[in-house]
Amino acid sequence: MALSRKTRSVGTGAFLTACFVLGISTALHAQQSPSLPYHPDATLVEVMDAIIMPAANSLWNAIAVDVTPEGIVEKGPETDEDWATLRASAVELAEASNLIVIPGRAVAAPDVESPEYELSPTQIAELMQSHWSDWVAHSEALHRVAQTSILMIDARNAKGLSDAGGDLDAACESCHQQFWYP
Ligand code: HEC
Repeated sequence: MALSRKTRSVGTGAFLTACFVLGISTALHAQQSPSLPYHPDATLVEVMDAIIMPAANSLWNAIAVDVTPEGIVEKGPETDEDWATLRASAVELAEASNLIVIPGRAVAAPDVESPEYELSPTQIAELMQSHWSDWVAHSEALHRVAQTSILMIDARNAKGLSDAGGDLDAACESCHQQFWYP
């Protein structure tokens, strides 16, 4: 069946040409408007509320201190499941520290109103631009505390995890003080 073989080879040639053209147009497209493999559609506020806050709360609540008639009773993680839940929260925090340095993320939805003692989203965005290396340093501090928490969790070290909770609070606050309510 010579005809069908020829058809097939023409088909292959056309296919390769199409790939070539597509390749060029993709390359041109990439030059004109870099299409990045990530889409930071959530605002910074949404990342704080949806990911960072719940994950931090989970770590802060890991060790509860109860004052009872018998004295102070500390209740920490016990089961494998308790520890696994905490580990997932610490991993979320560690990765969220990367999310907040992804370029192109808006600070807040356009209609958000801020109280007077806070910077507006526009002011925050300007401050991030003018003090980008500080922003990155704060994000890295958050990352380091999250990594320390993971180490403590893997070592089943409740005291170490509790100490890391204090450092976590400091990591949140130092960024908020510079970029949110200076
Ligand atoms: C690198 C800087 C940075 C770090 C680190 C950071 N934040 Fe934030 N966070 C901000 C900024 C800036 C805002 C204010 C955004 C706005 O209101 O426009 C904010 C706002 C928030 C909000 C309020 C969101 C809302 O609904 O208005 C919460 C809650 C929050 N952060 C929690 C945390 C917690 C918890 C941590 C630490 C585990 C943390 N943040 C670490 C920069 C940071």
